[in-house]
Amino acid sequence: MYDIQRRNEKKEIITQDGSKTLYSCEFNEPYHSTKDGALHESLSKHVIPALKLQADKEQVTILDICFGLGYNTLATLHYIKEHDLTTQVEILAPEFDEALIRSLAEFTYPQAFDHLKPVIEALSQNLYYEDEQFKIQILLGDARESIPQIQKGIDIVYQDAFSPKQNPLLWTREYFADIRKILAEDGIVTTYSTAAVTRMGLYENGLNLFYYEAENTRRSLIASPSDIEGWNAIDMVLKIERNPTARSLRDVDFIG
Ligand SMILES: C[S@@+](CC[C@H](N)C(=O)[O-])C[C@H]1O[C@@H](n2cnc3c(N)ncnc32)[C@H](O)[C@@H]1O
Repeated sequence: MYDIQRRNEKKEIITQDGSKTLYSCEFNEPYHSTKDGALHESLSKHVIPALKLQADKEQVTILDICFGLGYNTLATLHYIKEHDLTTQVEILAPEFDEALIRSLAEFTYPQAFDHLKPVIEALSQNLYYEDEQFKIQILLGDARESIPQIQKGIDIVYQDAFSPKQNPLLWTREYFADIRKILAEDGIVTTYSTAAVTRMGLYENGLNLFYYEAENTRRSLIASPSDIEGWNAIDMVLKIERNPTARSLRDVDFIG
């Protein structure tokens, strides 16, 4: 399924908002939408909607799948500090590319992350960072193995794997079932993918689905076991009626 031989083959690219990302030759895909911009995408599809929807909580646990260059984790810290929020945050971030993590202290992040240099260095060296407000742990290894071992309730899931087409095992019904088991009843999943397979995998695990639209960004998806007050859920019954062959991805199709 994975091509470990090609894991180190990556190219740096500059995205629309000026922030840098990588292109993975193994997955044949960039780490971020080059059109939406790496930093802009991270803030507008994951961090801002998630923190706004969970704003009532004094403490949140975030599952950042997968850490990659760490934009989602870093943008979370950046947003919280910029808005003087006092939320206590714990982040668990699966990632199997150790060489990438070890190289992050040398990566050129946007200026907005300059104040996070000590965090980046600690994560790159120790896979761990902690201060009085934030605790971050990179879970080195396959997310399909590390997620079922998580014992804590998760408030926010940043579902930011490569696309369902290129990395289907991180979008199957069984994978979303593992996430559903640890997701708090009022927790949320944010994802850039609005594909039918994504919606079906989340819906078949009992999640309500909502489109989210931010300025200058393509729409994204929010999923939650609960209703989100004032938001219109996607009518999945109608969608399925109109497209009866739509189907979630299944582990068996990829690993037998
Ligand atoms: C789209 S990138 C993540 C982008 C990331 N959120 C960021 O801000 O850079 C996908 C990441 O998933 C990792 N990955 C792919 N399959 C994985 C798996 N089964 N387990 C753990 N990490 C995986 C890749 O190494 C890559 O770093």
